[in-house]
Amino acid sequence: MTWLITGGAGYIGAHVVRAMTEAGERAVVYDDLSTGIAERVPDGVPLVVGSTLDAERVARALADHAVTGVVHLAAKKQVGESVDLPLHYYRENVEGLRVLLEQVTGAGAPGAPGVSSFVFSSSAAVYGMPDVELVTEETPCVPMSPYGETKLAGEWLVRATGRATGLATASLRYFNVAGAATPHLADTGVFNLIPMVFEKLTEKAPPRIFGDDYATPDGTCVRDYIHVLDLADAHVATARALRSSPGRDLTLNVGRGEGVSVREMIDHINAVTGYDRPPTVTPRRPGDPSRVVASADRITAELGWNAKHDIQDMITSAWEGWVRLHPEAARG
Ligand code: UFG
Repeated sequence: MTWLITGGAGYIGAHVVRAMTEAGERAVVYDDLSTGIAERVPDGVPLVVGSTLDAERVARALADHAVTGVVHLAAKKQVGESVDLPLHYYRENVEGLRVLLEQVTGAGAPGAPGVSSFVFSSSAAVYGMPDVELVTEETPCVPMSPYGETKLAGEWLVRATGRATGLATASLRYFNVAGAATPHLADTGVFNLIPMVFEKLTEKAPPRIFGDDYATPDGTCVRDYIHVLDLADAHVATARALRSSPGRDLTLNVGRGEGVSVREMIDHINAVTGYDRPPTVTPRRPGDPSRVVASADRITAELGWNAKHDIQDMITSAWEGWVRLHPEAARG
């Protein structure tokens, strides 16, 4: 099959491209390069620069490359920014998806496409503040931000389109993604715990804990961190599952099922980086749920997928990527 991977020049997308091509699939990257980096696209993989809002460009990419499957990762993903710019997020994440699906199913240009499978990048943000030990796919979805709303609406669009057209579909709900395959594929954004701690250590400042009065064992928030390599493998497994089952509709958590607190993460980071800077506790960050940990039972049962990488692998590889861009950090 030939897979159009939207957002394939982004941090997660580039790992998906790499995993898909290593698994023997043909890939074409479609990315507007607003945050993506062209150099992340491997040699031999075509890069089409365009927005998913551009119906003509999408249609041309699908036809030119005889695309038969789509993995849709292109999206805006900053929770805080989505609160300030909800219309922008709805346009990029929901309207961009709607236009893409229209072209993929031939609704825009009847008879053109031969796409049979569609994998959608969703998020644990669809659950909002889940009040359960382990979040299953049946846990009610109550998103707490416009970002989470656009991901939930995206799942609805994808599922409804699959039902109406026979397109095999999957929504993968990513938990907290970290790590890198190689330093040059590392996340360059400083929007999540690990890079935010790296940044503080590099500035010789104490890492910050946003609140230690949560109802968790050490009072700090608990999350389910997953290595981007494992996440990329989940896409390969999903793509294969859809190929062999036309009409299939999957909604899957992609997490490890292991909760790790902010304080524990900072201890791991200190151990990996050789810094030993005690954190400082600041007030809670508004909107943070105390605990979000996946049940990974369904993805294991459906796809036989299991995470292989641990927290140590995530932090070590993320640190190598950080030091590549911030060499001064290595000097401790
Ligand atoms: N945190 C700190 N100090 C920091 C940075 C973060 O204490 O310097 C804490 C946060 O308060 C939170 C935890 O670390 O409790 C993890 O924060 P992240 O920002 O890394 O991740 P979130 O769980 O807030 O967000 C992630 C993804 C989002 C997704 C969301 C819900 O980054 O894309 O999960 O699934 F929407």
